[in-house]
Amino acid sequence: MTTHASGTVYIETYGCQMNVSDSELMYGRLAEFGYVAVGSPDEADVILVNTCAIRDHAEQRVIGRLGELKRHMKPNSVLGVTGCMAQRLGPRLLKSAKHVQLVIGPDGYRALPSLVEGARNGVRASSVEFDLEEHYEDFRAQRFDGVKAWIPVQRGCDYKCTYCIVPMTRGPERSRRLLDVVREARGIAESGITEITLLGQTVNSYNDGQHDFAALLRAVGAVSGVRRLRFTSPHPNDFSERVIDAMAETPAVCEHVHLPMQSGSSNVLKRMLRRYTRESYLDCVARLRSAIPGMGLTTDIIVGFPGETDQDFEDTLSAVREIGFDDAFTFKFSAREGTAATRMPESLTVPDATASKRLARLIETVRDGMRAQNLGLLGARREILIEKVSRRGTLLQGRTRDFRTVLVPGDDSMIGQYQTVELTGTTGSTFTGGVVSERLQLPVAV
Ligand code: SAH
Ligand code: SF4
Ligand code: F3S
Repeated sequence: MTTHASGTVYIETYGCQMNVSDSELMYGRLAEFGYVAVGSPDEADVILVNTCAIRDHAEQRVIGRLGELKRHMKPNSVLGVTGCMAQRLGPRLLKSAKHVQLVIGPDGYRALPSLVEGARNGVRASSVEFDLEEHYEDFRAQRFDGVKAWIPVQRGCDYKCTYCIVPMTRGPERSRRLLDVVREARGIAESGITEITLLGQTVNSYNDGQHDFAALLRAVGAVSGVRRLRFTSPHPNDFSERVIDAMAETPAVCEHVHLPMQSGSSNVLKRMLRRYTRESYLDCVARLRSAIPGMGLTTDIIVGFPGETDQDFEDTLSAVREIGFDDAFTFKFSAREGTAATRMPESLTVPDATASKRLARLIETVRDGMRAQNLGLLGARREILIEKVSRRGTLLQGRTRDFRTVLVPGDDSMIGQYQTVELTGTTGSTFTGGVVSERLQLPVAV
């Protein structure tokens, strides 16, 4: 291992938290080899774009950005594409974008320093092999957020939802060993970070051969200094009673679940190969809510999946109303090359104009539900963890345990603190609040 200064690196990250976490691992890996992180591409000897392939739009953004980055490159800097789009396109990307020197998929980051070295000497390369043993255990993630941290506990996905590219870009599911996750959680807590989010594509199917997700929640929840424990994204079919009990009985586990529903129609769910029905999804929600009273619930929904009829879409709207989600990420179906959905009869294709109309109605329905829930909370008190200065710059932004955003007055010395606030106003989606207590004492980490 060398530690002399080798240069500067800038990583731009697209896509999900798994990519954010992978970028932290890449920064860490390159730091071991003497690369110093910088905040803009203009200063960087190495520019990496960590990409997402989930929808066509995500890829188009990256292609546009790669064109722009050309103008930011110094004469000798290296431009690499990593992540899911790199995995999906591999050498095709080297052919189509001549100024890109490296294409590295999610299991190839161990070789990053040598590939970068090679590229600096003019060798273009793509590395897109899956490595089912690879968890980057010896990497030291370089984290830039001092308040909360991600821990990947599982890589890949063994579901085969017919719309989804992830099994192709991330390979088969594999879990890290519980002891390794706990060791990482201890290190994070010792650094003063109190909130941890466990990551996996179907995180509650976690199994390291000896421990299931219930055991993992209890073990990480028991780490001294971990005051809030979250996880994303769980799959409805993997919420065993053991997992739900562990959530309810582990004080650090936050009262919030992000539970992708995708559709409220059993017909559509079947063609999506989600492996649950509308009824069994509702049943999963009911089991969670009865074990964890007051739980926040958010979801992902796709409209315009092949064969989605007006009635199927109405079923989605009625499920949204019946369940009362606190928020939802909503998407128009995007056909992804190589997925089973692209092999469905063309007659099932939903016209784009129909999908757009459905999306607009869905967003409105989600907003109405969210506003109703949030208005009902005005006057309530909640504990928030203050995460950062809000985007508008004058207020601080915090989150409740049930994942609601609250803006409060204060100064940046309060970032990282827990405060009890009264919810005084709502835009419908976020809250404004006022601090009602002095700083709560943090449990002392030993
Ligand atoms: N592993 C997670 C989902 C990861 S992808 C899970 O199973 O819950 C995040 C979200 O993107 C999905 O929940 C889905 O709503 C959406 N998505 C995935 N593929 C898509 C596609 N081809 N078109 C539109 N939305 C898609
Ligand atoms: Fe994609 Fe389905 Fe796996 Fe989620 S569970 S990553 S939607 S294949
Ligand atoms: Fe995108 Fe890959 Fe995540 S496709 S959503 S970055 S797993």
